[in-house]
Amino acid sequence: MAEPKKLYIKTYGCQMNVYDSERMAEAMGGKGYVTTDTPDDADMILLNTCHIREKAAEKVYSELGRFKPLKKAKPDLKIGVAGCVAQAEGAEIMARQPMVDLVVGPQSYHRLPELEAEAQKGRKALDTDFPEELKFEHLAKRPKARRAPTAFLTVQEGCDKFCAFCVVPYTRGAEVSRPVARVLEEAQDLVERGVREITLLGQNVNAYHGEAEGGAWGLARLIRKLAEIDGLDRIRFTTSHPNDMEDDLIAAHGDCAKLMPYLHLPVQSGSDRILKAMNRKHTAQQYVDLIARIRAARPDLQLSGDFIVGFPGETDEDFEDTMRLVETVRYGQAYSFKYSPRPGTPAAEKDAKMVAPEVASERLTRLQELLNRQQFEHQQAMVGRRASVLFEKAGRLEGQLVGKSEYLQAVHVVAPDSLIGQIAEVEITEAGPNSLGGRLV
Ligand code: 5AD
Ligand code: SF4
Repeated sequence: MAEPKKLYIKTYGCQMNVYDSERMAEAMGGKGYVTTDTPDDADMILLNTCHIREKAAEKVYSELGRFKPLKKAKPDLKIGVAGCVAQAEGAEIMARQPMVDLVVGPQSYHRLPELEAEAQKGRKALDTDFPEELKFEHLAKRPKARRAPTAFLTVQEGCDKFCAFCVVPYTRGAEVSRPVARVLEEAQDLVERGVREITLLGQNVNAYHGEAEGGAWGLARLIRKLAEIDGLDRIRFTTSHPNDMEDDLIAAHGDCAKLMPYLHLPVQSGSDRILKAMNRKHTAQQYVDLIARIRAARPDLQLSGDFIVGFPGETDEDFEDTMRLVETVRYGQAYSFKYSPRPGTPAAEKDAKMVAPEVASERLTRLQELLNRQQFEHQQAMVGRRASVLFEKAGRLEGQLVGKSEYLQAVHVVAPDSLIGQIAEVEITEAGPNSLGGRLV
């Protein structure tokens, strides 16, 4: 029998890309490809790219350059570019870099096997269309096999919010939700394969409005329905926009026991002036009030967020507003970035005053110090408390397992392998900045 062909996928960026890479691997599995951890022995290399980082296209070119010797040694090697950079600049990449055999945008992954067949015939293959039909439906059919205890399930893609700094509405297109029945089917299937925790994914997941009998369902109704699945113990969702936190979703945090007390709800800035310039369509106070309402429903809720410092026109005063908001809200965990212009976005086109790089760096450092301090306090507050931990895999040390608390903290515990995939009560005995340690009770 012939050796199976090997596929190497390098994934950049968000969870959506991690999920998409898995789906691409499965689609190519149908054509006899197995995945490999190194490009060296691959028959096909896919770069699943992200447009969020600065100079994204340049990074793709330099990464491709590294594969040149491999292609030379093995002319049959096929090289593809996928993801948001492919969507935005794929045709140009293909024209400029003859090594690239195929380009596939995030809406077209179901066509990957066809594109590969084209490439095998020596023809360049490109698909960056936004088809009417949803790509998910082609990808949802996974081979029946055991899975890790946690899984992502995409329920929504794209975004209509058009924050002034963000490329997502251009690269991922308009907001589309998967029909409820499809989501339920896939969730049921995941649970049958051993999944105990599902994270519902979407660029703007709380804008979910999946088609169902009798009209569209919002995210809260979907979560409540998913919670009825026996064997599914935990539900999470990410990422959300404050303006889509509707009352029933807030209520679900209080009354749906399977919905975990952790919420990623980016605010980006604490200055009303900057929020307006960012086209976020809410004020800092509205966000603070919203958090208070969610915490009233679920007092132990842990919050996560995203921040951008140095947005064009941001003054010292604006930045202090952000620091004050962080002090008020208190985050268990957060991501923060220095603003960088993305070609084609309104913020990059406007000639508002750019913040000096050294000023932006200094602000980022201060913000990160504050966020890290809050994160560490949140970690330390767990010591002496009990957490329920879903064990996922072997831990750092011999005999240890690692899992996640209900607040999404990594917890290391000495425990038998038989607990992988199980939820157990753990007494937390030590806290580091990024993980906890404890013992089984
Ligand atoms: N510059 C800096 N950060 C950005 N993000 C998105 N676009 C930009 C940009 N142009 C950040 C936002 C978003 C997260 C995924 O990435 O904080 O929430
Ligand atoms: Fe981008 Fe999120 Fe704003 Fe949508 S809501 S435009 S994905 S930052």
